[in-house]
Formats: sequence, C-alpha cells, structure tokens
Amino acid sequence: MIFRQLFDPETSTYSYLLADQGSRHAVLIDSVLEQLDRDLGLIRELDLELRFALETHVHADHVTASGRLREELGAQVAVCAAAGVANADLELEDGALLQLGALELEARHTPGHTAGCMTYVCHEAVMAFTGDALLVRGCGRTDFQEGSPHTLFQSVHEKIFSLPGETLLYPGHDYRGRTVTTVAEERGFSPRLRDGTSEEAFVAIMNGLDLAYPRKIKLAVPANLESGLIDDAQAVATEQEGGPGVAAMMDRLGRQDAEPAFLGMGI
Ligand SMILES: [Fe+2]
Repeated sequence: MIFRQLFDPETSTYSYLLADQGSRHAVLIDSVLEQLDRDLGLIRELDLELRFALETHVHADHVTASGRLREELGAQVAVCAAAGVANADLELEDGALLQLGALELEARHTPGHTAGCMTYVCHEAVMAFTGDALLVRGCGRTDFQEGSPHTLFQSVHEKIFSLPGETLLYPGHDYRGRTVTTVAEERGFSPRLRDGTSEEAFVAIMNGLDLAYPRKIKLAVPANLESGLIDDAQAVATEQEGGPGVAAMMDRLGRQDAEPAFLGMGI
C-alpha cells in the first residue's frame, strides 16, 4: 500500500493519498484547491492512476480541488449522498465500497458535524479517515451545516468507536501538530468523547462552544457544493454575498467571521 499524509498550513487541513501498490489505483481524500499543483505532481511522480477524488464532507474552511482533479486526471468525484454536491460522479450511501485494485474502502455515514459526513475505513490496513467527525482529542463543531451534537455522539460511538481499538484514525484537521490517533486512545483520553461520557454531557460541551465563523465560509461552502468548480468572478461575488443558504445561516447564528486564531475546533 502507498500512503501519504499531506498538509495545508493555511487551514490546518490534512489530505490523504492512498493507493494500491500493484494496480497503482489511487484515491485522494479531502484535497485543497491551493495544493492542487503539489498533489498533481506527487500523483504523477508516484505513477498513480487517480480513480477517486473523495470528500469526507462539504468543508466550510477551504475549497476542494476535487473538480479540478476530475478535469486533470479523470478521477471520479465521490461524496456522501446527503452532502448535496450537485456535480458529483458518485453519491455514496452508508456501506458503499470503493475499490482500488486489491484495496477496499468502506464508507460509513457519520453525520453530526454536517449531515453529509462520511468516514472511510480501510479494514485491511486497520485505518480510517474520519474527516471532522472525530479529531485527535476532539471533534468538529456541530453548529452549522445541519450539524447536531446528538447525532455526532451516536455516529462516533456506532460507526467509529465500534472499530478495533488499534485502528489508526486520521483526522481532517489538526491545529497542534498531531497527525494520527487510535480508537483506543480516543476512547481513553478524548476530553469530549472518552468512555463514560454521557450523551447529555457531550451535548452540553458542544452547545457551549460559541465559536466564531470560519474565515472562508461564504466562499467555501457554495464552492464545495460545486466540487470547487467556480470561476474567479463567481468566487468574488460569492465571497462578498455568500452563496445560497449561507447568508441565512450566518444571520441565524449572528456571529462575526472568525479571525485565524479562532480556527481551532474542526470546521
Ligand atoms: Fe468540516
């Protein structure tokens, strides 16, 4: 198996390149538009055939490169059916399987951070890619994009903590330099989700966070609903006004755009 963990320093986002050694079939999970050239270069250097540009969810903090990866390399854009991405090639349901030569990824629907969150499990390699459903010693916020702390609690326990304890968990972000955790570590040490924490206690923590907005939300959410494929003029207009639903969402929550220092809780 070929595996690379890639990092975008501006948004503390991890992207993951995973490939089958024999067939060279590859997937890139949670790409970042600003890192497109880096990732195209790596895929070509390693002589991989990118089959899927995969998303764990519709991100609010960065624009995906998935649409561009389709244009450049012929990859299929694959995302949770509940995410509502209009131009996706594959809309994945819970339990969907993605084949990369001899490697297989299982999609597990893990809503709660957003309604359209997926965790991808590679059982053979004993690893999973959790997006923002579960972060190292934390989890993604639950206060927009149809998030729900009740739903997230159930998702983590039923779909992630049910994996073997040694399963390596790769998060969508980390803001403190951590790269990976395990099911056993999170069940033992997550301040929000460790064993013995009740759903009510978790919900109280999440509802008390009162976080500021991601700096790029007005651009990122509408752009990502189009797999990142919006032109410069659209991007300018969208960033000023917000796309469909974003303005109403921000009015409802009534908070200011975040400064970078606040971008710390999984967006
Ligand atoms: Fe997120």
